[in-house]
Amino acid sequence: MGLYRALPEDGVAWVTGASKGIGRQVALDLARQGYTVAATARNAERLAALADEVSGLKGRIVAFPGDVTDEKAMLETVAAIEERLGAVVLAVLNAGAYYPARGDALEVANFVKTYQINLFGVLHGLVPLIDRMRERERGQIALMGSVSAYGGLPMAAAYGASKAALNNMAEALKFDLDKMNIRLQVINPGFVETPLTNKNNFAMPALISVEKASARIVEGLRTGGFEVAFPRRFAWFLKFVNLFPHPAYFWFLNWAMGWRKRPLGPARRSRKISLTSKKIRLFSDKGRAKTKR
Ligand SMILES: NC(=O)c1ccc[n+]([C@@H]2O[C@H](COP(=O)([O-])OP(=O)(O)OC[C@H]3O[C@@H](n4cnc5c(N)ncnc54)[C@H](OP(=O)(O)O)[C@@H]3O)[C@@H](O)[C@H]2O)c1
Repeated sequence: MGLYRALPEDGVAWVTGASKGIGRQVALDLARQGYTVAATARNAERLAALADEVSGLKGRIVAFPGDVTDEKAMLETVAAIEERLGAVVLAVLNAGAYYPARGDALEVANFVKTYQINLFGVLHGLVPLIDRMRERERGQIALMGSVSAYGGLPMAAAYGASKAALNNMAEALKFDLDKMNIRLQVINPGFVETPLTNKNNFAMPALISVEKASARIVEGLRTGGFEVAFPRRFAWFLKFVNLFPHPAYFWFLNWAMGWRKRPLGPARRSRKISLTSKKIRLFSDKGRAKTKR
């Protein structure tokens, strides 16, 4: 028999980072499928507004505000969800943050914040979930990674490293979680149009809408493969680039991103990181990209 795949009638779905961006849309789409969704993030007002938005959908959303960096709070949140709504059968541990890390202006605090949210924040949900799912002998958990996990990218020293750690952690844990009938997955999106990427002042190749990203995630949860990576062509392209020997890898990314020509210092409008339209087409599924000004 295959590993467990959650269904709305089996129990509750828990989504962290549900107050905006990808998590918010995934919570809505899961409620549309009929799930009772427990939604967690720090912003209680946004979560309450989201819960109100779902009237008329098959399922519902119930707000459980909380900070994923607080281990005790996450333990209590999982307990509260199960006490109030029932067993969590599906979790999308999505809460995350991006703090740019430039090599010429490294700040330890940015690394600490990044790991606290993106790595430990995920672990704080994962540990109590595994304890409970193990007892029930079934469950499905997806961790939110990123294609930046595949290899080092400019400005992503903290973010990419946290997502690489998540990917590695998921691979390592899958061996044992399989034995407990807990399906562990990792979601690696490319660029998605959300408040997180809205602050980017560079062209984002293969940028997709949050609705499209959520549709790919929900589909990936249904089909159940270990890695859910999208847009597919962009993800496979980056995987391929990461097979290059290091000199070719650094040469290619410097060329594609115009990075070597970019002076050190904070990115200003006039020093925008650029990908020419030709280069962008190399990366993107439809040659679509967006430049924030
Ligand atoms: N957008 C992209 O292009 C992209 C690409 C690859 C991967 N991802 C990943 O996808 C996930 C969602 O990204 P997004 O683009 O949707 O970002 P976003 O729009 O900034 O949303 C981030 C969500 O995480 C929550 N969050 C942040 N810190 C938290 C904390 N300490 N405790 C609880 N919740 C917290 C935020 O809610 P509160 O502020 O209310 O707490 C918000 O709901 C992240 O893990 C990100 O790394 C995004």
